[in-house]
Amino acid sequence: MFTSWKIKTSDMPVLTNLFGNRERLALALDTTNEELNRVYREREKRLTPPIIVPTGPIQESVMTGDQVDLTKLPIVHHKSGDAGAYVTAGVTTVKDPDTQIRNAGMYRYMLKNKNQMGVHLAEASHVYYIYRKYCEKKQNMPIAITIGAHPAFYLGSLSFCGIDTDEYEVMGGLFGSAMEVVKCRSVDLEVPADGEICLEGYIDWEKREPEGPFGEWHTLYGEAMSYPVATITAVTMRHDPIYHDLCSGDTVKKGSNMMRVIVGISGASGIIYGIRLLEAFKAVPIETHLIMSEWAEKILALETDCDLSCVNGLATVRYDNRDMAAPVASGSFLTAGMVISPCSMKTLAGIANGYSQNLLERAADVTIKEGRKLVLVPRETPLSAVHLENMLKLARMGVVIAPPMPAFYINPKQVCELVDHHIGKIMDQFGFSNTLVKRWQEEPLPMTTSDR
Ligand SMILES: Cc1cc2nc3c(=O)[nH]c(=O)nc-3n(C[C@H](O)[C@H](O)[C@H](O)COP(=O)(O)O)c2cc1C
Repeated sequence: MFTSWKIKTSDMPVLTNLFGNRERLALALDTTNEELNRVYREREKRLTPPIIVPTGPIQESVMTGDQVDLTKLPIVHHKSGDAGAYVTAGVTTVKDPDTQIRNAGMYRYMLKNKNQMGVHLAEASHVYYIYRKYCEKKQNMPIAITIGAHPAFYLGSLSFCGIDTDEYEVMGGLFGSAMEVVKCRSVDLEVPADGEICLEGYIDWEKREPEGPFGEWHTLYGEAMSYPVATITAVTMRHDPIYHDLCSGDTVKKGSNMMRVIVGISGASGIIYGIRLLEAFKAVPIETHLIMSEWAEKILALETDCDLSCVNGLATVRYDNRDMAAPVASGSFLTAGMVISPCSMKTLAGIANGYSQNLLERAADVTIKEGRKLVLVPRETPLSAVHLENMLKLARMGVVIAPPMPAFYINPKQVCELVDHHIGKIMDQFGFSNTLVKRWQEEPLPMTTSDR
């Protein structure tokens, strides 16, 4: 359910979690829950450029310069453990400085003062890539944060389209007609004409300050980290705007390590076993820390038509395999364990012999030394004595060796059923409930393959 209420410090009504379930998202696209994915996939390809109109409701009131006062907005402090009040339902629009192609995405902003907010830009996101370009040019990145707009605007901002696609065109496809946009007053960007509120400004290219902690959607608290700072140069809005908010997290699991897993993908055939595992963990949800080897990235291109950014997007955090200083390289970073799926014979050999050449092998080494669960999905055939001895050595240390052996007793009709069954077995190892395993002598459970 969504909630609508008033915040003490502001007269503006607040609407929380308007898009809090799939049924409402389906309504927005005039379809059903079952058809939502198919309709979304089909419409996001119908790229429709926006139309610039001279004016719109989102600019009925305009405040610039000293008139800007973010504290007058009902920005919600959601949970006692949060570092402060957060803008959570804003869509940030930026432009690539080289191509001028627009990018839109949802990022949280922590209120700092009348005109400044800390911003959490995920390193694996397109906006971070664009932000890095501005930093290299020593330029601030202009931003426009739209708070409250048609659901298709929000849905379009979450599209996994490539960085060379203007997400406003995706939104047009989802709307079924060109989106009407107005030019911002203080930055060279456009926002939906019929939106509720827009915060215009820029993200400083060099300033970084602590942001967080914040109760995340996956029920864990992220630590405070150093992130860029946004300065707001103009606030535009309707005469009687509704402030949109989103409260997704939970404080129950604060400090827990049970919902955090390291996922390694190495360069063995069967990268689908890594991708599907990330999807399954995401559905639970479980915080995933992904390390992919260089050869895993190459095999991704050979065996699938998945973009690397799509795989990165499935994980909570993605690390560079060369980064031996990443948190997962240390035992002090608490996790429920690690899975390497699929695991090549080379990575297997590195782990079995305690020779950590990269972050993937180091994280596995740490997982063993800390006595945490390590599950390997080795893929090779036939297996040599070296491979078998390495596996035996690790099995004797308590490492779970789970090769992706097809379970024909489930009477699979499709390859994905075999893959899912195996993924379910891995989840079983961690005690994560799942419906992927077809359990022997139990009522068949629905396979969650429809969302792919
Ligand atoms: C298409 C392709 C498929 C491969 N499949 C396997 C495999 O199933 N098992 C394996 O141990 N190595 C396989 N390899 C070889 C590994 O990619 C290679 O040993 C690589 O060095 C592994 O490095 P990594 O473990 O750091 O990813 C494959 C290589 C290619 C190009």
